[in-house]
Amino acid sequence: MKTWTLRAHGQDLTLDEVDDLVPGPGEAIVQLRAAALNHRDVWLQQGNYFISKLPVTLGADGAGVVGAVGPGVSQDWLGAEVVVNPAIGWGDSEHYAADDFRTLGTPDNGTFATQLRISAAQLCRKPEHLDFVQAAALPLSGLTGYRALFSRGQLAHGETLLITGIGGGVAQFMLQYAVAAGARVYVTSSSADKLSRACALGAVDGEIYRAPGWEAKLKAKAGRGFDLIVDSACGDDFPKFVDLAAPGGRIVYFGLTAGPSPALDMRNFYRKQLSLLGTKMGSPRDFESMLDFVSRHEIVPSIDTVLNFGDVNTAMKSLANGEHYGKIVFRIS
Ligand SMILES: NC(=O)c1ccc[n+]([C@@H]2O[C@H](COP(=O)([O-])OP(=O)(O)OC[C@H]3O[C@@H](n4cnc5c(N)ncnc54)[C@H](OP(=O)(O)O)[C@@H]3O)[C@@H](O)[C@H]2O)c1
Repeated sequence: MKTWTLRAHGQDLTLDEVDDLVPGPGEAIVQLRAAALNHRDVWLQQGNYFISKLPVTLGADGAGVVGAVGPGVSQDWLGAEVVVNPAIGWGDSEHYAADDFRTLGTPDNGTFATQLRISAAQLCRKPEHLDFVQAAALPLSGLTGYRALFSRGQLAHGETLLITGIGGGVAQFMLQYAVAAGARVYVTSSSADKLSRACALGAVDGEIYRAPGWEAKLKAKAGRGFDLIVDSACGDDFPKFVDLAAPGGRIVYFGLTAGPSPALDMRNFYRKQLSLLGTKMGSPRDFESMLDFVSRHEIVPSIDTVLNFGDVNTAMKSLANGEHYGKIVFRIS
């Protein structure tokens, strides 16, 4: 099998040829057909993540065909077209992940390879309306966005929603989910072109978050404010959400792309009876619910670029530059 290996932080990945994988008890081998990138892969490559392991095969997202199963795994999986749930060891609670929760692609070897060895419990059937490239774009971002909007944010039909940084991989899923769920969706972005593309996908309107006074313009558009705000940037703009939220509103966040946030206006926070909710990937139930939602609404992931397996380092640089709109995927033949 072939695998892209990260040997040192800040370095390109190197392509290695190693022995084919053999499944242990409860495990399966997936012959990967496509894999996708997440911002996490860039943090890990740069050494800017809270965990680290070297050498490692990066990659949380993958789709393919089950090629072998180990003792205790049903033979029915052989030949099945699958997506891999990258949230490993979630635990028993729907409210939070267990202490040994981890994401595929560090410390466990991930999907930037031709084969993946994984617990069979992480396998799910690929939605039939998606090809392998589309399905590989789904797992981590699709799961995180689903839990943020529905399990944590409790988004309801007819509510007004703000999604920040709409060019992001997770944000793209949330836009499609929220439109399908009947919400009125507003967005922010660094780019007017990305705002236009979001409106073509069903967003009502948006503002450029780098333009001074964007929050006042957005508030005027949204009327009484936003029932739900979902953000993964934090940074200097985060305190503005207290003003942008409608009374009783919820603010869900799951990342710090723009760094930590200054202090919030705590007086208005309690006067408006707001809720601040952190979220992290999702439970096995979230993953199944997400796949069901995606199948029912025939949601097709927004894909920026499809590259070949040999172009993984190009894909990593492209994601780090932040010029993408949606997911960057590579085919594995
Ligand atoms: N907690 C979890 O389980 C979890 C799961 C997945 C991701 N994350 C985190 O969530 C973040 C997004 O992940 P991703 O994979 O979607 O990343 P991504 O595809 O690289 O998207 C990042 C997006 O952030 C937006 N952005 C950058 N600076 C911003 C700012 N100051 N204000 C508003 N938006 C800003 C940009 O939107 P525009 O292009 O529109 O400007 C950019 O496209 C990352 O920090 C990631 O580590 C956490």
